[in-house]
Amino acid sequence: MKILFLDQSGKLGGAELCLVDIAKPYGKNALVGLFADGDFRKLLEENKIPVDILTNQVIKVRKNSSFFQALGSLKQLTPLIFKVVQRAQNYDLIYANTQKALVVGALASFLSRRPLVYHLHDILSTEHFSQTNLRVAVTLINRFASLVIANSQASKIAFLQAGGKPNLIEVVYNGFDPQNYLTNELDTQKLRQNLGLEDKFIIGHFSRLSQWKGQHILIDALDKCPQNVVAILVGDALFGEHEYVKYLHQKVIKLGLENRVKFLGFRTDIPQLMTMCDLVAHTSIAPEPFGRVIVEGMLCGKPVIAANSGGAMELVEDGINGFLVTPEEPQELAQVINNCVQESAKIANIANNARITASERFDVKTINQQIQQLLKSLVIDNKHLQKRM
Ligand code: UDP
Ligand code: GLC
Repeated sequence: MKILFLDQSGKLGGAELCLVDIAKPYGKNALVGLFADGDFRKLLEENKIPVDILTNQVIKVRKNSSFFQALGSLKQLTPLIFKVVQRAQNYDLIYANTQKALVVGALASFLSRRPLVYHLHDILSTEHFSQTNLRVAVTLINRFASLVIANSQASKIAFLQAGGKPNLIEVVYNGFDPQNYLTNELDTQKLRQNLGLEDKFIIGHFSRLSQWKGQHILIDALDKCPQNVVAILVGDALFGEHEYVKYLHQKVIKLGLENRVKFLGFRTDIPQLMTMCDLVAHTSIAPEPFGRVIVEGMLCGKPVIAANSGGAMELVEDGINGFLVTPEEPQELAQVINNCVQESAKIANIANNARITASERFDVKTINQQIQQLLKSLVIDNKHLQKRM
């Protein structure tokens, strides 16, 4: 089976990291077409996945664009759509991984008569998107997609509530290789030393810096924790959220937490950094579609505290393999952190349960088999259809 994957981003977000794991088994039978160059291209190349930068033009539609802005961008997309139609001749299906890839992929799938798969990594609600974007996405999916793979039940439910066709959608969680999260004790000790955090209780927050990821909630909670509790914020403003970054820095200064909050920027040594932490916090203030960082924290054998909303509720069982707290409640978050600081034996048990359940539920080999099965039946159906025409 030959697959043409499409993704609008050159950057390393969760959807892109997920795509690397899905495309890898297909090797030379895959091509990932990107609408921007960047670190994502490099990572695909390192994994020996063929990649093609299909355009260098910035596509101007945003998550909150109006109808006319969306219409204007369609004109800009025409050459890109034709390029995809051309590439698609050598592939059995088109697999769109992001919303702009869906727009291009939908029209290209129609013109090239290749089935369209859409991997839905988003919660299609007005908390995340403008009404126009929602309407465009759902209309295109219902009209052109043969299969939608949702990254969680939460994303599936939002799709159905937005008017998506129920017979199109299947839930497949992100997959992970548990081996990648087993790290060397010495490396993590060194990391602690280098950061000057040997005798601290470290909370790790691993998300791009963006208002809805809620780093400010963790800073507010930290202010209510004992002095030896510190936080590392790992991640960068991937999509131009510079005002928010400025706000976070100002907040840290205002609360006098300069020595207790470290901004580490974007890092590629996530398993090592997570293992170095005593606890991983997830604080999104809008429902998280899936939440890779939650699973990664569990695979590192760390207690994870997650905001009780969206996909996080499917990943964590409160008090059994992690903790769930009300979103946007720093007081409650601080209380759970403080309990963890005090009850190390109990939380070690919970963290151990987390590692076991996460390794079983999210093993990349099983997840990839599920996806392969779904794609195979689509390709077979499409070949029958084409023979009859
Ligand atoms: N991540 C990373 N470096 C960083 C911060 C995050 O590689 O500095 C990774 C993180 O390990 C996770 C992904 O980025 O795999 C973020 O995915 P998630 O689903 O948590 O959130 P998204 O950003 O996709 O909404
Ligand atoms: C998106 C979502 C995130 C999810 C990731 C992988 O980026 O925001 O919650 O984990 O895709 O599916």
